[in-house]
Amino acid sequence: MNDHGSRFWELFFEVYENLPRQGPGNRHCTERALRLCAGLPPASMIADLGCGVGRQTLDLADLTTGSIVAVDSHAPSIERLRATLAARGLSQRVRAQVDDMAHLDLPPESFDLVWSEGALYNIGIGNAMSVCRGLLLPGGFLAFTDAVWRKEDPPPEVKASFDLDYPAMGTEADVMRAIRFGGFEFIDRFTLPDEAWWDDFYTPMEQRIMELRRKYGNDDEALAVLDQLAQEPEMHRSHSDYYAYEFFVARRPATT
Ligand SMILES: C[S@@+](CC[C@H](N)C(=O)[O-])C[C@H]1O[C@@H](n2cnc3c(N)ncnc32)[C@H](O)[C@@H]1O
Repeated sequence: MNDHGSRFWELFFEVYENLPRQGPGNRHCTERALRLCAGLPPASMIADLGCGVGRQTLDLADLTTGSIVAVDSHAPSIERLRATLAARGLSQRVRAQVDDMAHLDLPPESFDLVWSEGALYNIGIGNAMSVCRGLLLPGGFLAFTDAVWRKEDPPPEVKASFDLDYPAMGTEADVMRAIRFGGFEFIDRFTLPDEAWWDDFYTPMEQRIMELRRKYGNDDEALAVLDQLAQEPEMHRSHSDYYAYEFFVARRPATT
């Protein structure tokens, strides 16, 4: 990802693993993107790539009658999702698997829908298009979110923040090009509303950071990392007009 030290990652996961979700999004947006997948078979096979602790996986389980394979490379998130699935009696219909999106242990051309919220960029959007297309049956759908620049010349601190995690971030037009170049038919897109950043993501993140500031009250190194993590929601308060999260829905042509 980037060159942060081990203490940073320890604190990062202590914050992030405890959030309802690990990126922007909400049930309303998941539902809206799912509605764009018109004609999805009732008992569809769904792959959720980079599922985190699985908030959207659980929404997909609720909104469909399909079978879901949810994949993430971070084992503790998959363990947490497995516990939730067991508690909700969903373990038969939803399988949570530790796996790397770039080298998936999943059968090719076997999914009606590939889903991914805020995760495909980790393997590069171009590469991700090829991975997702390889998983899909002809006519299968791809629904994913990705961060995009909305305005040119962002303030240096905004540019620096995204350069750390997503240096290749492009515009909506760049993602649309990658979709088409990847052999998909573009269906539609929409911008995630502000509440999708706050309700299940930044608001609980700020609460969690406050809890951990109390826990690490005398630990200057931990407090410095927490200050660093707190900059992300703060940056969103001041500069969210420069960037957005877009939901993209596309389809593998039925005839290829
Ligand atoms: C921004 S989070 C989004 C999580 C979840 N989809 C959500 O919206 O709450 C990105 C997720 O991608 C996962 N990830 C990063 N690289 C990955 C890879 N190569 N294969 C699988 N998962 C990966 C991370 O562990 C993280 O859970």
